Amino acid sequence: MIKSKDVLGLRDMTAEEIRHILDTAKTMKYILLTNNKKTPHLQGKSIVTLFYENSTRTRLSFELASKYMSASSANISASGSSVAKGESLVDTGRTIDMMGADVIVIRHPMSGAPHLLAKYVRASVINAGDGMNEHPTQALLDMFTILEKKGTIEGLKIAIVGDILHSRVARSNIWGLTKLGAKVCIAGPSTLLPPGIEKTGAEVCMNLQEAVREADVVMGLRIQLERQKKGLFPSAREYSRFFGLNEEVISLAKKDAIIMHPGPVNRGIEMTSEVIDHERSVINEQVTNGVAVRMALLYLLTRRRSNEAAD
Ligand code: CP
Repeated sequence: MIKSKDVLGLRDMTAEEIRHILDTAKTMKYILLTNNKKTPHLQGKSIVTLFYENSTRTRLSFELASKYMSASSANISASGSSVAKGESLVDTGRTIDMMGADVIVIRHPMSGAPHLLAKYVRASVINAGDGMNEHPTQALLDMFTILEKKGTIEGLKIAIVGDILHSRVARSNIWGLTKLGAKVCIAGPSTLLPPGIEKTGAEVCMNLQEAVREADVVMGLRIQLERQKKGLFPSAREYSRFFGLNEEVISLAKKDAIIMHPGPVNRGIEMTSEVIDHERSVINEQVTNGVAVRMALLYLLTRRRSNEAAD
């Protein structure tokens, strides 16, 4: 059971809730891999995706998840809507609410925007990435992929490397993975490590090699050029030399370590092509699992709403 009406982040979610979502995603993955992907789980429900930032994976996977489960779905992007005429987030949310949306999936460049929206709408709100804060559905699909490959999360060493400062994916993964008992080791250029990050439960490593050594999972992060203030690292070539994942670095991890990246990847900067396409890379499976996890979330939130309405 998800306790809240909304899914805003993993910081405030319990280990039990996370396990329940991952268990439900297992059933959804089974449905996803069958020949007939149409199920009636969301019949009569409306899902709206409201994206103020670009996206391929997250938006499309929510849209496909809604369609596979027979919901009515619609998409609004900031540039083609009345947001471009100056309408506020709250007014936009209320407008969507009044049209009968059951779930609003929002991506926004400002940290906390989904939390604000959730206070003003009746619909359930799912955070699809807010500024540098959280990207909970990405972390859930990452955890689902690790569970599929490793059978457990507890006791694993998970290296998360790169632009930690700007990464909402890193933050959500640190909250979620540590709750499920993993040891999370982070590394990146000192200018891209936020002060106080160790308070989240992650261990800060001296360098890339220390983080990756004997790791069960190696997760690279995207260099977020759109959020970078100039001067946080000298050049892409320099970044790649010290923090890029290549086969030599990967050889320090356990022999059966898996390689992950949330995508989109800047090929040759965060990872070499050999690492992206490595036999132990699960980057493509992460994309498929994203649909299963989002199906699970939409199902659990709408079922919670139906149960509440019946009480
Ligand atoms: N991982 C991720 O959020 O990808 P998109 O920006 O393509 O949604």
